[in-house]
Amino acid sequence: MRAVILISGRGSNMEALLRANLPVDFAAVISNRPQAAGLDIARGLGVDTVVLDHRVYGADRAAFDAALAAEIDRVGADLVCLAGFMRVLTDAFVMRYRGRMLNIHPALLPAFPGLNTHARALAAGVKIHGCTVHFVTPEVDAGPIVVQAAVPVLEDDTPERLAARVLAQEHRIYPMAVRWFAEGRLHWGEDGRVRVDAACAAEGVLISPTG
Ligand code: GAR
Repeated sequence: MRAVILISGRGSNMEALLRANLPVDFAAVISNRPQAAGLDIARGLGVDTVVLDHRVYGADRAAFDAALAAEIDRVGADLVCLAGFMRVLTDAFVMRYRGRMLNIHPALLPAFPGLNTHARALAAGVKIHGCTVHFVTPEVDAGPIVVQAAVPVLEDDTPERLAARVLAQEHRIYPMAVRWFAEGRLHWGEDGRVRVDAACAAEGVLISPTG
Protein backbone atom coordinates (compact mmCIF):
# COMPACT_ATOMS: atom_id res chain seq x y z
CA MET A 1 0.00 0.00 0.00
CA ARG A 2 1.44 3.34 -1.05
CA ALA A 3 0.10 6.59 0.34
CA VAL A 4 0.70 10.30 0.12
CA ILE A 5 -0.02 12.84 2.84
CA LEU A 6 -1.23 16.33 1.95
CA ILE A 7 -0.47 19.12 4.40
CA SER A 8 -0.60 22.91 4.63
CA GLY A 9 1.08 23.66 7.95
CA ARG A 10 2.27 22.22 11.23
CA GLY A 11 2.04 18.59 10.20
CA SER A 12 1.38 16.97 13.55
CA ASN A 13 -1.19 14.54 12.11
CA MET A 14 1.24 13.77 9.31
CA GLU A 15 3.91 13.04 11.89
CA ALA A 16 1.53 10.77 13.81
CA LEU A 17 0.89 8.80 10.62
CA LEU A 18 4.57 8.59 9.71
CA ARG A 19 5.57 7.43 13.19
CA ALA A 20 2.80 4.86 13.66
CA ASN A 21 4.63 1.94 12.02
CA LEU A 22 1.74 1.42 9.64
CA PRO A 23 1.88 -1.19 6.88
CA VAL A 24 2.07 1.69 4.43
CA ASP A 25 4.81 3.07 2.21
CA PHE A 26 4.45 6.84 2.57
CA ALA A 27 5.76 7.79 -0.85
CA ALA A 28 5.58 11.57 -0.41
CA VAL A 29 4.33 14.46 1.65
CA ILE A 30 2.88 17.22 -0.51
CA SER A 31 2.34 20.76 0.75
CA ASN A 32 0.57 23.65 -0.95
CA ARG A 33 2.59 26.03 1.23
CA PRO A 34 6.39 26.23 0.85
CA GLN A 35 6.74 27.32 4.51
CA ALA A 36 4.75 24.47 6.02
CA ALA A 37 6.58 23.34 9.15
CA GLY A 38 5.57 19.75 8.44
CA LEU A 39 7.89 19.63 5.44
CA ASP A 40 10.99 19.68 7.66
CA ILE A 41 9.50 17.03 9.91
CA ALA A 42 8.82 14.79 6.91
CA ARG A 43 12.34 15.26 5.56
CA GLY A 44 13.73 14.52 9.01
CA LEU A 45 11.85 11.22 8.92
CA GLY A 46 13.28 10.42 5.50
CA VAL A 47 10.12 11.00 3.49
CA ASP A 48 10.18 12.72 0.10
CA THR A 49 8.52 16.11 0.03
CA VAL A 50 6.89 18.03 -2.79
CA VAL A 51 5.80 21.68 -2.72
CA LEU A 52 2.98 22.70 -5.02
CA ASP A 53 2.44 26.36 -4.26
CA HIS A 54 -1.23 27.10 -4.89
CA ARG A 55 -0.45 30.82 -5.40
CA VAL A 56 1.24 29.96 -8.69
CA TYR A 57 -2.15 28.86 -10.02
CA GLY A 58 -4.03 31.98 -8.90
CA ALA A 59 -7.78 31.40 -8.88
CA ASP A 60 -7.52 28.39 -11.20
CA ARG A 61 -8.48 25.60 -8.81
CA ALA A 62 -8.80 23.06 -11.61
CA ALA A 63 -5.20 23.67 -12.74
CA PHE A 64 -3.87 23.35 -9.19
CA ASP A 65 -5.84 20.16 -8.62
CA ALA A 66 -4.63 18.72 -11.93
CA ALA A 67 -1.03 19.36 -10.90
CA LEU A 68 -1.74 17.80 -7.52
CA ALA A 69 -3.29 14.71 -9.13
CA ALA A 70 -0.27 14.41 -11.42
CA GLU A 71 2.05 14.31 -8.39
CA ILE A 72 -0.12 11.80 -6.55
CA ASP A 73 -0.33 9.54 -9.58
CA ARG A 74 3.40 9.92 -10.32
CA VAL A 75 4.20 8.22 -7.02
CA GLY A 76 1.42 5.68 -7.56
CA ALA A 77 -0.52 6.34 -4.37
CA ASP A 78 -3.32 3.94 -3.41
CA LEU A 79 -4.41 6.23 -0.59
CA VAL A 80 -4.47 10.01 -0.15
CA CYS A 81 -4.42 11.29 3.46
CA LEU A 82 -5.46 14.90 3.99
CA ALA A 83 -3.78 16.05 7.19
CA GLY A 84 -4.51 19.71 7.78
CA PHE A 85 -4.64 20.34 4.03
CA MET A 86 -6.52 23.62 3.97
CA ARG A 87 -7.66 23.75 0.36
CA VAL A 88 -11.12 23.38 -1.10
CA LEU A 89 -10.79 20.64 -3.72
CA THR A 90 -12.63 20.49 -7.03
CA ASP A 91 -15.31 17.86 -7.53
CA ALA A 92 -13.25 16.25 -10.29
CA PHE A 93 -10.28 15.81 -7.96
CA VAL A 94 -12.44 14.39 -5.18
CA MET A 95 -14.17 11.96 -7.52
CA ARG A 96 -10.83 10.78 -8.93
CA TYR A 97 -9.84 9.56 -5.44
CA ARG A 98 -13.29 8.49 -4.29
CA GLY A 99 -13.06 5.76 -1.71
CA ARG A 100 -9.32 6.19 -1.26
CA MET A 101 -9.00 9.68 0.22
CA LEU A 102 -9.35 10.26 3.96
CA ASN A 103 -9.50 13.48 5.99
CA ILE A 104 -9.19 14.32 9.68
CA HIS A 105 -11.40 17.09 11.02
CA PRO A 106 -11.27 18.61 14.53
CA ALA A 107 -14.95 18.22 15.42
CA LEU A 108 -17.60 15.57 15.78
CA LEU A 109 -19.02 15.87 12.27
CA PRO A 110 -21.58 16.70 11.07
CA ALA A 111 -21.29 19.33 13.83
CA PHE A 112 -18.86 22.17 13.18
CA PRO A 113 -17.50 21.70 9.67
CA GLY A 114 -15.14 24.46 8.51
CA LEU A 115 -12.75 26.59 10.55
CA ASN A 116 -12.42 27.61 14.23
CA THR A 117 -14.20 24.49 15.39
CA HIS A 118 -13.03 24.70 19.01
CA ALA A 119 -14.13 28.29 19.57
CA ARG A 120 -17.45 27.50 17.91
CA ALA A 121 -17.93 24.42 20.10
CA LEU A 122 -17.32 26.53 23.22
CA ALA A 123 -19.68 29.25 21.98
CA ALA A 124 -22.37 26.66 21.32
CA GLY A 125 -21.98 25.30 24.84
CA VAL A 126 -21.61 21.66 23.79
CA LYS A 127 -20.46 19.31 26.53
CA ILE A 128 -18.78 16.87 24.18
CA HIS A 129 -16.45 17.73 21.33
CA GLY A 130 -13.94 15.68 19.39
CA CYS A 131 -12.58 14.70 16.01
CA THR A 132 -13.55 12.67 12.98
CA VAL A 133 -11.82 10.68 10.26
CA HIS A 134 -13.98 10.48 7.15
CA PHE A 135 -13.86 9.62 3.48
CA VAL A 136 -13.71 12.75 1.36
CA THR A 137 -16.67 13.82 -0.74
CA PRO A 138 -17.08 17.06 -2.72
CA GLU A 139 -18.78 18.86 0.17
CA VAL A 140 -16.16 20.27 2.57
CA ASP A 141 -15.75 18.37 5.85
CA ALA A 142 -18.53 15.98 4.96
CA GLY A 143 -18.41 12.41 3.77
CA PRO A 144 -18.90 8.99 5.32
CA ILE A 145 -17.53 8.77 8.85
CA VAL A 146 -14.89 6.14 9.62
CA VAL A 147 -14.07 6.75 13.29
CA GLN A 148 -14.59 9.48 15.88
CA ALA A 149 -13.15 10.29 19.28
CA ALA A 150 -14.99 12.33 21.88
CA VAL A 151 -13.49 14.60 24.51
CA PRO A 152 -15.37 16.33 27.32
CA VAL A 153 -15.63 20.12 27.24
CA LEU A 154 -14.50 21.43 30.62
CA GLU A 155 -15.77 24.46 32.55
CA ASP A 156 -12.57 26.47 32.20
CA ASP A 157 -11.72 25.46 28.63
CA THR A 158 -10.24 27.90 26.17
CA PRO A 159 -10.16 27.13 22.43
CA GLU A 160 -6.44 26.37 22.83
CA ARG A 161 -6.86 23.96 25.73
CA LEU A 162 -9.74 22.20 24.02
CA ALA A 163 -7.81 22.04 20.75
CA ALA A 164 -4.86 20.39 22.48
CA ARG A 165 -7.09 17.72 24.00
CA VAL A 166 -8.77 17.07 20.65
CA LEU A 167 -5.45 16.99 18.81
CA ALA A 168 -4.15 14.22 21.06
CA GLN A 169 -7.15 12.14 19.96
CA GLU A 170 -6.63 13.07 16.29
CA HIS A 171 -3.19 11.54 16.59
CA ARG A 172 -4.80 8.40 17.92
CA ILE A 173 -7.66 7.85 15.47
CA TYR A 174 -6.02 8.88 12.19
CA PRO A 175 -3.33 6.18 12.29
CA MET A 176 -6.04 3.74 13.40
CA ALA A 177 -8.19 4.49 10.35
CA VAL A 178 -5.25 4.36 7.94
CA ARG A 179 -4.19 0.99 9.37
CA TRP A 180 -7.70 -0.37 8.84
CA PHE A 181 -7.65 0.87 5.24
CA ALA A 182 -4.17 -0.53 4.57
CA GLU A 183 -5.17 -3.90 5.98
CA GLY A 184 -8.22 -4.03 3.72
CA ARG A 185 -10.57 -3.93 6.68
CA LEU A 186 -12.29 -0.64 5.88
CA HIS A 187 -14.64 -0.13 2.95
CA TRP A 188 -16.97 2.51 1.69
CA GLY A 189 -19.74 0.47 0.13
CA GLU A 190 -21.76 1.19 -2.99
CA ASP A 191 -24.70 1.92 -0.69
CA GLY A 192 -22.75 4.87 0.75
CA ARG A 193 -22.14 3.20 4.12
CA VAL A 194 -18.75 2.71 5.73
CA ARG A 195 -17.99 -0.81 6.89
CA VAL A 196 -15.15 -2.07 9.04
CA ASP A 197 -14.57 -5.64 10.12
CA ALA A 198 -15.61 -6.71 13.60
CA ALA A 199 -12.19 -6.25 15.20
CA CYS A 200 -11.94 -2.68 13.91
CA ALA A 201 -15.46 -1.93 15.05
CA ALA A 202 -14.55 -3.07 18.56
CA GLU A 203 -11.34 -1.03 18.54
CA GLY A 204 -13.05 2.15 17.38
CA VAL A 205 -16.48 1.75 18.89
CA LEU A 206 -16.29 4.51 21.48
CA ILE A 207 -13.15 6.51 21.90
CA SER A 208 -13.99 8.55 24.92
CA PRO A 209 -11.03 9.73 26.96
CA THR A 210 -11.59 11.26 30.37
CA GLY A 211 -9.77 14.54 30.12
C1 GAR B 1 -5.80 19.50 12.58
O1 GAR B 1 -6.44 19.84 13.78
C2 GAR B 1 -6.80 18.98 11.57
O2 GAR B 1 -7.82 18.23 12.16
C3 GAR B 1 -7.34 20.25 10.99
O3 GAR B 1 -6.21 21.07 10.84
C4 GAR B 1 -5.28 20.76 11.88
C5 GAR B 1 -3.94 20.51 11.24
O4 GAR B 1 -2.96 20.32 12.22
N1 GAR B 1 -8.02 20.03 9.75
C6 GAR B 1 -9.11 20.68 9.38
O5 GAR B 1 -9.58 21.61 10.00
C7 GAR B 1 -9.75 20.20 8.09
N2 GAR B 1 -11.00 20.81 7.89
P1 GAR B 1 -1.64 19.52 11.88
O6 GAR B 1 -1.03 20.20 10.64
O7 GAR B 1 -0.77 19.67 13.08
O8 GAR B 1 -2.03 18.09 11.60
